[in-house]
Amino acid sequence: MDTSQLDPTKLDAFIARALADLSAGYGGVMVSLGHRLGLYKAMAGAGPLTARELSGRADCAERYVREWLGSQVAGGYVVYHAISDTYELTAEQAFVLADEDSPVFLPHAWNVPASMWLDEDKAVQAFRTGRGVAWGDHHGRLHCGVAAFYRNAYRASLVPQWLPALEGVVEKLSAGALVADIGCGHGHSTIAMAEAFPASRFHGFDTHRESVDAAQQAAAAAGFAHATFATAGATDYPGQGYDLICFFDCLHDMGDPLAAATHAAATLAPGGTVLLVEPFANDRVEDNISPVARMYYSVSTMVCCAHAISEGGRMVLGAQAGESRLGDVFRKAGFTRFRRAAQTPFNLILEARL
Ligand SMILES: C[S@@+](CC[C@H](N)C(=O)[O-])C[C@H]1O[C@@H](n2cnc3c(N)ncnc32)[C@H](O)[C@@H]1O
Repeated sequence: MDTSQLDPTKLDAFIARALADLSAGYGGVMVSLGHRLGLYKAMAGAGPLTARELSGRADCAERYVREWLGSQVAGGYVVYHAISDTYELTAEQAFVLADEDSPVFLPHAWNVPASMWLDEDKAVQAFRTGRGVAWGDHHGRLHCGVAAFYRNAYRASLVPQWLPALEGVVEKLSAGALVADIGCGHGHSTIAMAEAFPASRFHGFDTHRESVDAAQQAAAAAGFAHATFATAGATDYPGQGYDLICFFDCLHDMGDPLAAATHAAATLAPGGTVLLVEPFANDRVEDNISPVARMYYSVSTMVCCAHAISEGGRMVLGAQAGESRLGDVFRKAGFTRFRRAAQTPFNLILEARL
């Protein structure tokens, strides 16, 4: 390569950018360790601690803890007090790293890139052959990581914000409605709704049996008989007359989203509603330039598109489909009303009605 053509300022800026990303990749493993070993939790609210004190609290070997702390300080995840050789997790850092119920608790999310690294060979094959990779063929860290990452968002937003943003849905759920949660995964969305609306009946469906088992166990642990789960696809789940049909972060994963929307139209009760929650995206690639869009396009490359292709890939939307393309799917399926009911930095919350 003729390096005389390189602009040194642009080169330095890009090297700094790429290096920061590489550093973040190393840091992600440290975040996962900090979570799994209880290091963040041992620091939360404890004030300044020496490495020895932290190792005692978390029952870990001091030498490893000291080095891990160094990585945390270098990355801005922990504050270091040089004068006392102590380390402190601020309240803001604890909210993101130690509070499992916080809507911005991030350690679980590192399971997703962890699974992507483990499945890299499958992606190489898929690129070469054009064949798909089914959701269930990925490493289990993907399924747990996605479920845990979205769980807190659902707990924070679904019942207090998203359902009230839909026309008349909360009233129906309070009085007793029939709900289908399609592609329910580990069932966190279904269970959050079942907890809030005991007079309604909730049926979660998913093609991935292990996820359905996990959802059944979670509902049993919560003692919810009005939330049941079954292995079924978006175009063949049983039942009719659903007042609310939900798709949480799954329509774009399906090989035939139009057929899924058409089946929803056929199984809705008169006056029923479809709640479509999709990854946040603008309609055009040039408007999807952000850390969140980068995460979604990346997981979409290896997981979402790959799964849709494994299901025949009639329409491979990808995780950055955007409202306009999603609206087209529902209009083609016979829905006459489609609107954005709410949004967060991570999700579009869309409402479709016949
Ligand atoms: C990204 S996960 C989302 C899971 C869950 N809704 C959540 O928000 O945590 C996508 C889910 O869609 C399911 N899925 C994919 N294609 C499906 C289909 N054709 N019918 C039903 N479920 C499907 C997958 O098995 C997976 O559990």
